[in-house]
Amino acid sequence: MDRIIIQGGAELSGAIPIAGAKNACLTLMPATLLSDEPLTLTNAPRLSDIRTMTELLVSLGAEVSALNDGKVIAMSSHNADNHLAHYDIVRKMRASNLVLGPLLARHGRAEVSLPGGCAIGARPMDLHITALEALGAEIELRDGYLHAKAPTGLKGAVHELGFASVGATENMVMAATLAKGTTVLKNAAREPEIVDLVACLRAMGAQIAGEGTSTIEIQGVDRLHGATHPVVTDRIELGTYMLAPAITGGEVELLGGKMHLVESFAEKLHDAGIDVTETKAGLAVKRANGRVNAVNVVTEPFPGFPTDLQAQMMALMCTADGVSVLEERIFENRFMHAPELVRMGARIDVQGGHATVTGVDKLRGAPVMATDLRASVSLILAALAAEGETIVNRVYHLDRGYERVEDKLSACGAQIERVKSDG
Ligand code: UD1
Repeated sequence: MDRIIIQGGAELSGAIPIAGAKNACLTLMPATLLSDEPLTLTNAPRLSDIRTMTELLVSLGAEVSALNDGKVIAMSSHNADNHLAHYDIVRKMRASNLVLGPLLARHGRAEVSLPGGCAIGARPMDLHITALEALGAEIELRDGYLHAKAPTGLKGAVHELGFASVGATENMVMAATLAKGTTVLKNAAREPEIVDLVACLRAMGAQIAGEGTSTIEIQGVDRLHGATHPVVTDRIELGTYMLAPAITGGEVELLGGKMHLVESFAEKLHDAGIDVTETKAGLAVKRANGRVNAVNVVTEPFPGFPTDLQAQMMALMCTADGVSVLEERIFENRFMHAPELVRMGARIDVQGGHATVTGVDKLRGAPVMATDLRASVSLILAALAAEGETIVNRVYHLDRGYERVEDKLSACGAQIERVKSDG
């Protein structure tokens, strides 16, 4: 298993290119199942989660080719006639559940294993199931699989999600594109990845309005055609690398970064005393001398502060001047990075959904363990600022969501290397 070794203390300066969004790409790829014509995605990130989705689509009978060093994904579901998403693939990644809506819409049936993914809470599927049932699907859980069918096709309906789930919104929108009649989805998630999905579906001929608001209206069509679509910038990778100069000092430009993707996060950085400015090529982040201010954070659905940046923000707060409280409202078990940060000298008290962080002057390097995707990168951020050497173990979590992290950071002056090891 690979490890990442970091010698902390170097200020960062330079530029980091931001990739296409993992979470957008993972919902855009299953959209291929909705059409028998080719769907091509450009600006795709090169990540192990994308390879897992490729494996899943291929197992369903789709043709998927990675072109241009993986930045272009060309797909065709012309011959995709399998509807079983097997446990062996689905258990690796929760986003595998995003094939459920498209399979049901195109074939009228789907068997999808209950998902796995990051161990950050229960993450059930009830909202997906009730949404698809509202469209007329019959779904039962047997032997660890969701068995779904819509023998007479899906029919448009008015449905309100009990919570603005990103995945349930994506499954419902994809399924409704081929349903008969009009679907109105209320309390829909508003994340930029959903806006991106809708842009792609529209390019495929879907009739959708209201994306980016909490009511999305979909007028079903008979068929969708092929399209080429560029994947939106990864706002979580963007926010993560915005934190790098914030935590080490220095100035870094995030190429391709856009303020509207990270507005509430950038506001918190501003409150912490970090300068964020828009440039021609993206966003520039600068930290002047001195400690950052402690700020409180509450995670919320978009446009609120993203749960996927909570762990990284906690790393910054570990050396802030004062006490900050981070409240996690999206997932119930998402502070697994806290004990690892404590091993580096942080002072963190976790009580339920609240983590109280008392800033210390300096963190110290230590051997630490990555526990999930965003937790692992928070340890890397902390290590960049810590005195001495940090060894981050179990970095396969990191490779699920960050491409070439050590190259991107070392290009800005970080002392970071990957060590390949067996076992
Ligand atoms: C997506 C993102 C993930 C991000 C999350 C919240 C992808 C591939 N992943 O995950 O990185 O952290 O949004 O922004 O896009 N829930 C239920 N029942 C359901 C579905 C969800 O109770 O049927 C709960 C979950 O347990 C969780 C909350 O709703 O507590 C949010 O989940 P959801 O918005 O669905 O996240 P994902 O789509 O899984």
